[in-house]
Amino acid sequence: MQSRSTAVWSMDGMDDVLLAKHQERYGATGKLFRAPGRVNLIGEHTDYTGGFVMPMAIGFHTSAVVSPRHDHRMVFYSQNYREEVSLEPNDLMKGRRDHWSDYPAGVAWSLGQEEIEFGGFNMTLSGNVPLGAGLSSSASVEVATVMAILNLAGKGLPLEKIATLCRRAENGYVGAKSGIMDQFVVAGAVAHRAMMLDCRSLEFDLLPLPENVRVVIVNSMVKHAVATGEYGSRRDEVEAGQEVLRHERTGIDLLRDATLADLESCREKMSPASFHRCRHIITENSRVQKAREALLAGDVKGFGDLMVAAHASLRDDFAASCSEIDSLVEIALRHPACVGARITGGGFGGCTVNIVQVSAADNFVAMVRNEYRQATGIDAECFICEPADGALELATKGGKA
Ligand code: GLA
Repeated sequence: MQSRSTAVWSMDGMDDVLLAKHQERYGATGKLFRAPGRVNLIGEHTDYTGGFVMPMAIGFHTSAVVSPRHDHRMVFYSQNYREEVSLEPNDLMKGRRDHWSDYPAGVAWSLGQEEIEFGGFNMTLSGNVPLGAGLSSSASVEVATVMAILNLAGKGLPLEKIATLCRRAENGYVGAKSGIMDQFVVAGAVAHRAMMLDCRSLEFDLLPLPENVRVVIVNSMVKHAVATGEYGSRRDEVEAGQEVLRHERTGIDLLRDATLADLESCREKMSPASFHRCRHIITENSRVQKAREALLAGDVKGFGDLMVAAHASLRDDFAASCSEIDSLVEIALRHPACVGARITGGGFGGCTVNIVQVSAADNFVAMVRNEYRQATGIDAECFICEPADGALELATKGGKA
């Protein structure tokens, strides 16, 4: 079930419309591929130093309808932006244009880097993943695009390859220094399960969430963008700290290998900012592992407490929260049915993720919306979610959720 405080979405209906629009515009029956958005339950800013994350897919999607062309052009039409972009293969070498089409074009570029051959195509894209909300609208576009192009090329790739290809599109073409989490879960998630991913080995566990709780996403409506500013500067601070640890201590390749004692011993050798960012990541990796144990033991309260601690760490050590988000977390934790609440995604705005007793989820949404409006004057959007299928599962089910 997925409900939205302001509108009810039916993707199946939207997909039929999209197929019809594609037919109308390109005179061909296309094939449709869908990739969801995601929410991260715990494990923030740990992915790009080989750590642990625990995201799940959510019931918002990007759909890509594709049909072949007789030449080598790649034509992308965005139903959301009502705009068409037509590219020659050589255009991909010119790099990004700071435009929505960078995401699908980046995927085509990344496939080329892998020497995967494909012919020209027309692609119609449409999605309802909220933009700039930290719910992986970008990864959703990338994964839907790669699924469509691979199908056209008659090729199948394993999950790790799909995620790595899409991440390279984002890092190497779009210019966002993101990790592997979003692309991996958007491609590989399974309904009714959270995914705990080891971002170094890419091994993962699919974990059940207790049936008596729901995941409630609250959008602060404060926009963030991974491609710009703060995300990149945090990552630079983390990498500078990681470099010191690598140099000073034996056996440390990635921050994931370091303990708090290692970090403490190197405190004077790094900037205070690097020290705090690394401390967040080291403690967060341990929280994700404990969160896995809590889920396996059916300990929802323990899981919620770890989320609350994760929020404090992202706010205080990683300095990636903002006043609106902090206010949403405080409001949420005042509700008796809320077990845990924290910021989710890249930070600096976007959404909170909350674990709430199912019987009180609607009441929770009403209370949070009301108190947030009083505190900030902003109308928050709330989504009551359960873990959804990723793109690979959706494809095996013929595109139907
Ligand atoms: C963004 C990035 C991810 C990850 C998160 C923070 O969503 O795309 O790779 O780093 O931020 O956990």
